[in-house]
Amino acid sequence: MKIAIIGTGYVGLPSGVGFAELGHTVTCIDNDQDKITSLKQGKLTLFEKGLEEIFNRHRLSGRLSFTSSMAEGVSGADVVIIAVGTPPHPKTNEADLSYIFAAASELAPLLDSYKVVAVKSTVPIGTGDQVENIIAEVNPSARCDVISLPEFLREGLALHDFFNPDRIVAGTDSEKAREVVKAMYQGMVSDDKLLFVRRRSSEAIKYVSNAFLAVKIHYINEIADLCEQVGANIAEVARGVGMDSRIGSKFLNSGPGFGGSCFPKDTMALSFMAHANSVNLTLVDATINGNFLRKKKMANRILHLVKGVRRPNVAVLGLAFKQDTDDCRESPAIDIVKELLTKTNGFINITAYDPKAMHTADKLLGDQIKYAPDMYSAVKGADVIAVLTEWDEFRTLDLARAADLVNHRNIMDCRNLLNKDQAEKSGFTYHCIGS
Ligand code: UGA
Repeated sequence: MKIAIIGTGYVGLPSGVGFAELGHTVTCIDNDQDKITSLKQGKLTLFEKGLEEIFNRHRLSGRLSFTSSMAEGVSGADVVIIAVGTPPHPKTNEADLSYIFAAASELAPLLDSYKVVAVKSTVPIGTGDQVENIIAEVNPSARCDVISLPEFLREGLALHDFFNPDRIVAGTDSEKAREVVKAMYQGMVSDDKLLFVRRRSSEAIKYVSNAFLAVKIHYINEIADLCEQVGANIAEVARGVGMDSRIGSKFLNSGPGFGGSCFPKDTMALSFMAHANSVNLTLVDATINGNFLRKKKMANRILHLVKGVRRPNVAVLGLAFKQDTDDCRESPAIDIVKELLTKTNGFINITAYDPKAMHTADKLLGDQIKYAPDMYSAVKGADVIAVLTEWDEFRTLDLARAADLVNHRNIMDCRNLLNKDQAEKSGFTYHCIGS
């Protein structure tokens, strides 16, 4: 089967590589010529664990190709997947659908033979109808079914999630389109994991899933605050609670708040949708607000540890929004760094190290902070070490060595990553979340 994917971001590219691995012929389309040139030359435009090897294998075998021409990419395709960005509107937080609509308009004249147009980007409920209308307006004789095909890949684990999905959700009433979806995933998922629903339900499932997970994280974060006050330990509490199969153990790690390009954006878009329809989503609204305040709270906790130090040196370990990605979009680490700079009027020296995300952080923070080539250079002369992303590499930090390098022995471990006993043995005052 031939699949065309419009958009080569964190959704489009891993999906394209995944479909090629499943045996399909895939063409990735992007109007960013620089990206296409890089991809054609075998240079990945984003970091995703495990992607490079499969990407290069299929690029060289010819099963995976790249183009900036929509006509070339879509020619002969059975399925066209739209996987462009839907960033939040800066004022209203409404999802910005301009890239989706532009893709639909450009695609419409090319739908001369039957194709399934699958919207994979996260889009507000009802967007499929709008895409269908645009296509019909631009090309009344277009032959296609517009379906919703949300993706549930986690960055950093995108390939794992692609090949081991909990479910494939497809929103369509068309029997023909359902058969095409079955063929796309043939051999990978059993029938009981293929969920066919109406298009609007499928669009809703994506938002409701992400918001549910965000609420779950916010809940455990607030419980962590309570644990700190009452002498309980959040790791033990989360383990005990998560053993209830009705609750589940995943997404119960407390930390500095959730980030990334999905949860913050999708909770806000869902809330916007609810308000526009006179529905109150009180849990979601409390989660959005609580998560915003949490990052300020983390910055305050870091500053509290260097109270009295004139122009403190802060070593930041981790800038990405989570481990195993170079993505800093809506990263709690970036927000915490910004808050530290604001609260001190810039009267602070921040030196950061991240294994993969320094180039992306640099675009957001520029020269407001310094970047170190490794963990030990980052902690040199620090008055406090702040762990902000849960990279495995940080677990290997030799705390005795770090103790000799720092100026003051303070740790604020916002990811509960380091070993408390070892930190204290090395003379650090160790603070973490939820105990
Ligand atoms: C999320 C969803 O998990 C995916 O299913 C979905 O496909 C994706 O959004 C999307 O909509 O495209 P992602 O944003 O890549 O995936 O990252 P997550 O692993 O879900 O983490 C999101 C944030 O929550 C991170 O900042 C992470 O550190 C935080 N988190 C996660 C916690 O604080 N605690 C946890 O227990 C889990």
